[in-house]
Amino acid sequence: MSVIKVAILGFGTVGEGVYRTIQSHEEELASVLGKKVEVAAVLIRNKEKDRNINEDVLVTTDFKEILCLPQLDVVVEAIVGKEPPLTFLKKAIERGCHIITANKEMFAHHGKELLKLAQENKVSVGFEATVAGGIPVIQTLGQLLKINRVQQVQGILNGTSNFILTEMREKKQSFAQALLQAQKNGFAEADPTNDVEGFDAFYKTMILSRIAFGEEPNWQDVEREGITSVTRDLIDAAEKLGLRFKHVASINREGGQITGSVQPVLVGKEHPFYHVEGVENAVNVHSDIVGRITLQGPGAGMFPTASAIIEDLVYVCQNHYHDRSFKQMAAVPIEQKKGQISETWLVHGLTKTKINPLITWLDQASVDTFIIRAEKKDVVELANQQEDLVYFPFLGEYQSAIKLKPKALSAL
Ligand code: HSE
Repeated sequence: MSVIKVAILGFGTVGEGVYRTIQSHEEELASVLGKKVEVAAVLIRNKEKDRNINEDVLVTTDFKEILCLPQLDVVVEAIVGKEPPLTFLKKAIERGCHIITANKEMFAHHGKELLKLAQENKVSVGFEATVAGGIPVIQTLGQLLKINRVQQVQGILNGTSNFILTEMREKKQSFAQALLQAQKNGFAEADPTNDVEGFDAFYKTMILSRIAFGEEPNWQDVEREGITSVTRDLIDAAEKLGLRFKHVASINREGGQITGSVQPVLVGKEHPFYHVEGVENAVNVHSDIVGRITLQGPGAGMFPTASAIIEDLVYVCQNHYHDRSFKQMAAVPIEQKKGQISETWLVHGLTKTKINPLITWLDQASVDTFIIRAEKKDVVELANQQEDLVYFPFLGEYQSAIKLKPKALSAL
């Protein structure tokens, strides 16, 4: 049986997961591909560390040694940051290797360039692992929803943030305790700022946008906020009303325009994201033929990410380089809107003196935390008047939890 030789760049949580999965699933790989898959080399950073890698595998800190191997078919990249991974992958493509990456930051910035180079060199690029861990969302959008006109994609795309929000609510942990646990579990990035400040979800959103719409919004126009403004008190106040905080990325296409946001929001029990807990991710796709689809599953961790990569390994080896062209979509008409839509918000820190007649009061979660209905511009104006005021949008149709009587509300 002939052999497919693979190099793994990086031997952290993801790299090691891929190595172990290639060993544990060698029979399945051989039966699907008709060839044996072998890890020929592993690129590491620190030679001193103990690793459980077979002796016949080249373990090196020098990428050039890997490029010089007599046979090399696939390069799997599981490093962080834009460089040197980008340079390594370009060199691998030029050598005629298929590439697979889990590096969302690098791929959000340079994916187009890599895909073009791969097409010129007639090799394939797998990037399923860049978005939503083990959920096969890239293949679903790219291969299985080719004719549907996608209008909106919403997702919980950062496992670490969802894990922290869940731990803070369920186990009453502090933000720092929950983050430490996420790091111990191997969910968080080396620098967790990317997770908790929304950068990681932002990069994933831009990759999804390219697959769903063939293009991305202007990066500067995408509102990006992480979960650091969500305190335990806010989580508890929301829970009293049956609401949960989720960190949600959203991209919409209307007419020729793509808009996006990445921010903490509130959801009620009816929303498909309400029960997405811990390190789980979810992606909700709204398109014209099928309607709404929600995919849910583990968003980070060793084996969920290895699963995405190992499936990509089959995909690239079956040589689908011609399939990666982005779709061209007919324009989705813009709905006629009468003025600005009134939205539902959780506002915290609101004082009686700031009450605005343009706001409809729906519920009270704590002494200074309310659920209101208002246009965004009015909420922003309130926040401008009152520095310590924080506000979060509610996703979906709000069902009042306590049904405050108008009388009780007027007394606020
Ligand atoms: N740090 C990332 C997360 C890993 O928590 O979602 C998976 O991309």
